Amino acid sequence: MNASPNPELDFEIRASGAAVPADQRAQMLVAPGFGSVFTDHMATIRWSEEDGWHDARIEPYGPITLDPAAAVFHYGQEIFEGLKAYTQADGSVATFRPHANAARFNRSAARLAMPELPESLFVRAIELLVAQDRAWVPTADGHSLYLRPFMIATQIGLGVSKPSSQHLFTLIASPVSGYFGGKVRPVTVWLSEDYTRAAPGGTGEAKCGGNYAAAFAGQQQALDHGCDQVVWLDAAERRYVEEMGGMNIFFVYGSGADARIMTPATSGSLLHGMTRDSLLKLGPDLGVPAYESKISVADWRAGCASGEISEVFACGTAAVITPIGAVRSAEGEWVIGDGSAGLVTNMLRDELVGIQYGRKPDRYGWMHPLR
Ligand code: COI
Repeated sequence: MNASPNPELDFEIRASGAAVPADQRAQMLVAPGFGSVFTDHMATIRWSEEDGWHDARIEPYGPITLDPAAAVFHYGQEIFEGLKAYTQADGSVATFRPHANAARFNRSAARLAMPELPESLFVRAIELLVAQDRAWVPTADGHSLYLRPFMIATQIGLGVSKPSSQHLFTLIASPVSGYFGGKVRPVTVWLSEDYTRAAPGGTGEAKCGGNYAAAFAGQQQALDHGCDQVVWLDAAERRYVEEMGGMNIFFVYGSGADARIMTPATSGSLLHGMTRDSLLKLGPDLGVPAYESKISVADWRAGCASGEISEVFACGTAAVITPIGAVRSAEGEWVIGDGSAGLVTNMLRDELVGIQYGRKPDRYGWMHPLR
């Protein structure tokens, strides 16, 4: 579905009369964790077949009232994004590659037969919400404001003969520290052989809630086996590594001047992550060639045993760059390198995070200043 021609829609600002008091907010910002603290406001924009995008607002954060027969409850027509705003070294606030998120949001929308949102509206919603809730942008080292735009189908009715004719776009914001707890620590992963995440022609490339709903059974198995996250294999042969939980995955081959990084190629079933894409550019500029290919579980295990694979890490907006220390599966367990974060992982993380927090030059024009 095409975007309606309303990219310059004005937002109505409705300030909250019940904003969290400053001392309480400061307390909530000390150790926010991931995704459990929310700011005072949210952005909403409605869409209907008749009016296109309309009724754009910044309004108090709060429950959304929907008819129980709204399409999203029954058929899961929902998409989302994740990006962050960072306090910069000079005290200003900036976000990372918001236009790339807007473009991916629209690719997800197209796959789920939902209306595309003009990129300028997507970015404007972010600018206005962060300006309104500026006091919630964390300043502590490694903390940030996680932005979660999403869209749900709101048409009332249980028929499935056509996609919903009404949708609600919402943007909420959540101050966060680490996704896997306070410090960066290597995670242990479980290889899912019972379930797969995405098949060719399915929705694997889209960032839609349904992909995550279908992943929880595998994630629960990972937890039951004492692991942090599940690793997905390809649906056709169950041999090749695709993704880890809601994150992409990179393999470091060789070490020192010979180090190079490889990530599974996107073949329609895995997410085009912003961090993944950024590392494919950053790696070569730091002297670490980067490429997309494929790797089987057998080669992963053999590569770790021979030392050819020296490090493996996961990456995503939420997880940033997280080292993987060990792998478990029904067939056994193996350790990657010495099980701790490797030099290449740390170097890439420092560079990426340095750019995001304005401590290193933004050679790529990735940072988008906010107020
Ligand atoms: C992100 O990295 O922004 C994600 O979407 C992962 C999330 C599902 C926790």
